[in-house]
Amino acid sequence: MKGVILAGGLGSRLRPLTKVTNKHLLPVYDRPMIYYPLETLTRAGIEEIMIVTGGNSAGDFLRLLGNGQAFGLKHLNYTYQEGEGGIADALRLCEHFADNNRLCVILGDNIIQDDILKYRERYEAQESGARVLLKDVPDPERFGVPEILGNRIVRIEEKPLVPKSNYAVTGVYFYDSKVFDFIRQAKPSVRNELEITDVNNSYIASGDLHFDILEGWWTDAGQFESLHHAANLVAAQRQAQLAGM
Ligand code: DAU
Repeated sequence: MKGVILAGGLGSRLRPLTKVTNKHLLPVYDRPMIYYPLETLTRAGIEEIMIVTGGNSAGDFLRLLGNGQAFGLKHLNYTYQEGEGGIADALRLCEHFADNNRLCVILGDNIIQDDILKYRERYEAQESGARVLLKDVPDPERFGVPEILGNRIVRIEEKPLVPKSNYAVTGVYFYDSKVFDFIRQAKPSVRNELEITDVNNSYIASGDLHFDILEGWWTDAGQFESLHHAANLVAAQRQAQLAGM
């Protein structure tokens, strides 16, 4: 399985912090934001990784991460997304890299306490299709929200005014190569982006979207409150680790 980190877009919700630098280079407690999704992938044993950058300071990713030696990697792949065409638009740039392999895709501003190895293994036990990770949250209207009937997701709504559950679809997605066909079928949304939620709904329509519920904490870090919250969660985790030593 190969890994993709989507760190494109313009980070407009974090201006002026993102006026001169890239959102994913901002600090989350003691590390740059991009370190967290990179660690999530490498801890799950994924070694072939593509980083999609965009916006400001894209060259700084190379200065910061190089070939990923600090993460035990031999090599890192990079590509550049022009503009802010959406998560699915950024993922589209990875078709050649994927080369028909299965992918674990993670959003560059998602920070997860859990090790995702067990979810990767469950996905690998699937014959085909996709797998998403859900988390119960107090503010589902900020996210993609699943409607769940029995043990199936029947639909995902992006930032619904009236959420049909208390779950967010987190920014960790497992896909087979059909994802690129579904992206080709997607149309720009009202915010003029190719939405990953539309791609996930295509998997639902084909009867092949599965899910797990994350146990540990999860947050995005794309707004002032969530960036602050993410730093607090990581700080508490580091303190707990020190206390346990
Ligand atoms: O965090 C989980 C949520 O992420 C999901 O629940 C939503 O379904 C999904 O649409 C997304 O929602 P956001 O509106 O929070 O996504 P945002 O625009 O903040 O983008 C999240 C990351 O995706 C960002 O850190 C980098 C990457 N991205 C985003 C855009 C718009 C790109 O690489 N290119 C882009 O054009």
